[in-house]
Amino acid sequence: MNIDLYERIWMWCIAAMLVLFLGSTAVAAFGHQIHPPSHVETIDPRTALSDPRFRPQGAAIDSHGQLHARVLGLMFAWLPAELTVPAGTPVTFHLTSTDVTHGFEIVRTNGQAMVVPGYVSQFTTQFPEAGEYLIACNEYCGVGHHTMAAKLHVVPRSQWQAPTSTIEASEPNHGH
Ligand code: CUA
Repeated sequence: MNIDLYERIWMWCIAAMLVLFLGSTAVAAFGHQIHPPSHVETIDPRTALSDPRFRPQGAAIDSHGQLHARVLGLMFAWLPAELTVPAGTPVTFHLTSTDVTHGFEIVRTNGQAMVVPGYVSQFTTQFPEAGEYLIACNEYCGVGHHTMAAKLHVVPRSQWQAPTSTIEASEPNHGH
């Protein structure tokens, strides 16, 4: 079969692009362990406010020394409204909603997840630089959507006061 030279060039270009795209996904998933931010943990939105997984809200340390931040989204606030974490330390965020879908976004960072009632969204990130960060809602959730905000204080590790509340270490994420 005779294939025109230009057609042949484009075929190789497309083949190379497919390898690049699929390869980058494979590197992210297997090399960097980057996965979608939820591990499909469910929760009853009607009782989320009193659920032990979200009490107390805010920062807590587990028995492995891992830092967790538990945040509830509701129309139209994040609970807690202020959160303090140390710089350069991995923080695992656990997020859920008591009403509608919200969007948790720590502006100017890679910390972002959809917050869906009935589910606990989870991601782990760290903040290399101390400073004040705005936590916004980036999913339209009603008339007060634009007022739904909280503050994240990232302080140098030496100035950070570890919370007194401890929580049980969560099971490693096996993606059930
Ligand atoms: Cu919550 Cu928009």
